[in-house]
Amino acid sequence: MPEKGVNFITSTLNSPVSPQEAALRPLSFGDFVGQPKTLERLRVMVGAARRRGDVLNHVLLSGPPGLGKTSLAFILGHEMQRNVRVTSGPVIEKAGDLAGLLTNLEQGDILFIDEIHRISKSVEEYLYTAMEDFRIDILIDQGPNARSVRLDIPKFTLVGATTRSGLLTAPLRSRFTLQTRLDYYSSEDLLSIVMRTCRLLGVAVDETGALEIANRARGTPRIANNLVHFVRDYAQERAAGRITKSAASAALELLEIDALGLDELDKRLLRVITEHYKGGPVGISTLAVAIGEEPETLEEVHEPFLIQNGFLQRTPQGRVITEKGIHAIGLRTLGGASSSGQSTLF
Ligand SMILES: Nc1ncnc2c1ncn2[C@@H]1O[C@H](COP(=O)(O)OP(=O)(O)OP(=O)(O)O)[C@@H](O)[C@H]1O
Ligand SMILES: [Mg+2]
Repeated sequence: MPEKGVNFITSTLNSPVSPQEAALRPLSFGDFVGQPKTLERLRVMVGAARRRGDVLNHVLLSGPPGLGKTSLAFILGHEMQRNVRVTSGPVIEKAGDLAGLLTNLEQGDILFIDEIHRISKSVEEYLYTAMEDFRIDILIDQGPNARSVRLDIPKFTLVGATTRSGLLTAPLRSRFTLQTRLDYYSSEDLLSIVMRTCRLLGVAVDETGALEIANRARGTPRIANNLVHFVRDYAQERAAGRITKSAASAALELLEIDALGLDELDKRLLRVITEHYKGGPVGISTLAVAIGEEPETLEEVHEPFLIQNGFLQRTPQGRVITEKGIHAIGLRTLGGASSSGQSTLF
């Protein structure tokens, strides 16, 4: 029997996986830290499917980047002992591309479509019958010779991942048995992830040093892991090779990551709202132009964290900074004195 494993059909366009990241990817449910609700839902589905000898139902994973959607797709493959075929929404341009992918699957395989919200509308329609009835009707030829050919496909599991579940059409969303959203991680969960990463990398770490990294990782495992790599280098070059609390905070200071975990762009966004728009409201596209970023990046990557942590509010008129947001950029009040006693912004 061929060995089951991960099988890349196409690599994802927007999220190329570095070998460094792949090495740290959790492989089984037991390896995966946090997200208790999503994990329990998936465990139940996997347990039931396995007991019945059935194919796992379709799953939609949503949430901001770096929280573990791709990792979970591979974990589902591992737990079901099935192949995982990987592709991404924008890569599937025509119905024929989709038909090619689907007809090459084996019974029970997992087809992972990353960025599924970016799939084209014409392809999406074909996905409906594929997901529901495990068949696909393809139109061949044009004009008088046009005919529809029905292709039966093996019963498979579609695992979709999206950073923007709101952009998925209702018909597509409703065809997933489970739709589950990943949330930002708590400091405790990130602490376990940092300790695990250090263990895998063979880096000496104090728990207080790990906590320093965990607290400043914007609730995101990918960021935590990236920080570990930098702090490890820092510890090696500027400290005695061990990630202690002081080595970690000096390294993070060098990266200009503050105690709240806000990165440069987060702070720039808060500052622009305060300085140029008197705290808001300001529309997202105006904000994007002012910052020189894509509106999608702000909406997918930066805003969720800032909003969930109370730095920013989204109102019908636009984005408004909160008191906490004002404090985060070192001011006491909007247009007031800076908390360090320096001159005001306006
Ligand atoms: N729960 C977790 N436990 C341990 N490590 C994790 C966990 N979640 C994510 N990671 C780590 O974070 C990295 C990024 O996760 P992953 O690629 O699965 O995120 P993603 O949600 O698919 O991101 P994107 O939306 O950018 O594709 C992984 O390589 C893994 O090392
Ligand atoms: Mg991913």
